Amino acid sequence: MIRNTAQSYGAPARLLHWLTALLIFSAIALGLYAETLPRDSEAAAATLRTIYSAHKTIGVATFFVALIRILWALTQAKPVSLHPDRKLETLAAELVHWALYGAMLIMPASGWVSHAAEAGFAPILWPFGQGLPFVPQSETVAHAATGIHKLSALVLYAAIAFHVLGAFKHVLIDRDETLARMTRGTVAGPLLQRPVPHFVAPIAALLLWAAVIVTVLFGPQPGAAPTTAPGTAPAATAATESGWQVTQGNLGFTVTQMGAAVTGQLPNWTAAIDYDPATGTGTVTVNIDTTTLSLGSVTDQAKGADFFDTANHPGATFTATIARTDGTAHEATGTLTLRGVEVPLTLPFTLTLEGDTATMSGQVALDRRAFGMGAAFPDESTVGFAVTVDVALSATHR
Ligand code: HEM
Ligand code: HEM
Repeated sequence: MIRNTAQSYGAPARLLHWLTALLIFSAIALGLYAETLPRDSEAAAATLRTIYSAHKTIGVATFFVALIRILWALTQAKPVSLHPDRKLETLAAELVHWALYGAMLIMPASGWVSHAAEAGFAPILWPFGQGLPFVPQSETVAHAATGIHKLSALVLYAAIAFHVLGAFKHVLIDRDETLARMTRGTVAGPLLQRPVPHFVAPIAALLLWAAVIVTVLFGPQPGAAPTTAPGTAPAATAATESGWQVTQGNLGFTVTQMGAAVTGQLPNWTAAIDYDPATGTGTVTVNIDTTTLSLGSVTDQAKGADFFDTANHPGATFTATIARTDGTAHEATGTLTLRGVEVPLTLPFTLTLEGDTATMSGQVALDRRAFGMGAAFPDESTVGFAVTVDVALSATHR
């Protein structure tokens, strides 16, 4: 049977139900697992990136499956409750269903907005870009969307718990066909009109989701810390917590081509940062995905064997120790591995602290020949030797 009736779910409705359930359980498992992973080394950052990429890709898939599911449900009859006389139970079940429908859209949408608003994290594994129209690159937007994502997860857990317990209650206590209707497509249920006006449950679920969003956007900000003067450390926490989470960043580079400056971007990278504001020292490991680099009209040439050689070297790494030199001035001294070639590099940068947020920016000039890049262009007439790298990021103390 394809179509739903008042007493049964058709095959598409059942397939879409179990597919969304599978996708949502996978997204939750990966999201929670990622939270437990360490973030303190190059290998850890790579694992984290893989897990988050899987989480985001499954999440985005959930969004589209949920859209299809909802559009399909709108064209179908909604099977009635098996016990419409139990008004409160029926209302509770419907409220949970509508809360779940909301979660199917709000969970992926909030995650997606937070991803699109912050640069440089584990990418969604698809070819349609990482941004979203109308979503600016903004830490504030990313922070709010992440807040909604996390609070919605709690509502989702509660809704799933009630929903699954309810399903088991129908099997074990009522011993009725409620679960069989959703698994085998069994036809069951009274030939009745709906006992509960069907707008009560959806409106209650709508209010619930509105409350979640309002709480995050306008409620107290638990993360807000008292501001300290730039350059000074929140001394009480500095010694124990040295991990930083990058919230926003940009990694760009500029080359001279035929005498004109051309600027490119490396949009995907992760940075594992340890920094103690009290001493101004720390370590940093940046893993850069070179396969997603862009350099105007010569992107493909830049990725080619003569330059970044992304087919053989899809990643570049910078590992360094950080030292404060004076006031906000710092240096990261270490090694840049690019095209498999290791070159010592010192990146001078400024770092200012405001509350829990550190903002850094720096610039360094490299010589492409040091990495064996552009051997076919031995002089500077077509491609200059110097490559200027600009890096800027904000990070918050975790
Ligand atoms: C059905 C869809 C989704 C579900 C059920 C889901 C669930 C979760 C869960 C349970 C967490 C852990 C939250 C916590 O520790 O409190 C999480 C974190 C996260 N999710 Fe999702 N997610 C979904 C879709 C997405 C999508 C589509 C993206 C991005 C494209 C995304 C990005 C993230 C990010 C970046 C975090 C880490 C937040 C942080 O700790 O800062 N999620 N998600
Ligand atoms: C082990 C997990 C699950 C079980 C055993 C289960 C079971 C069921 C059953 C038996 C029904 C039919 C209820 C009825 O006929 O009145 C149902 C409906 C529904 N389920 Fe689930 N479910 C599970 C997971 C999920 C998840 C993860 C979601 C979404 C996040 C979900 C969303 C829904 C929705 C929205 C409906 C209402 C369908 C409609 O009539 O429009 N379920 N589920």
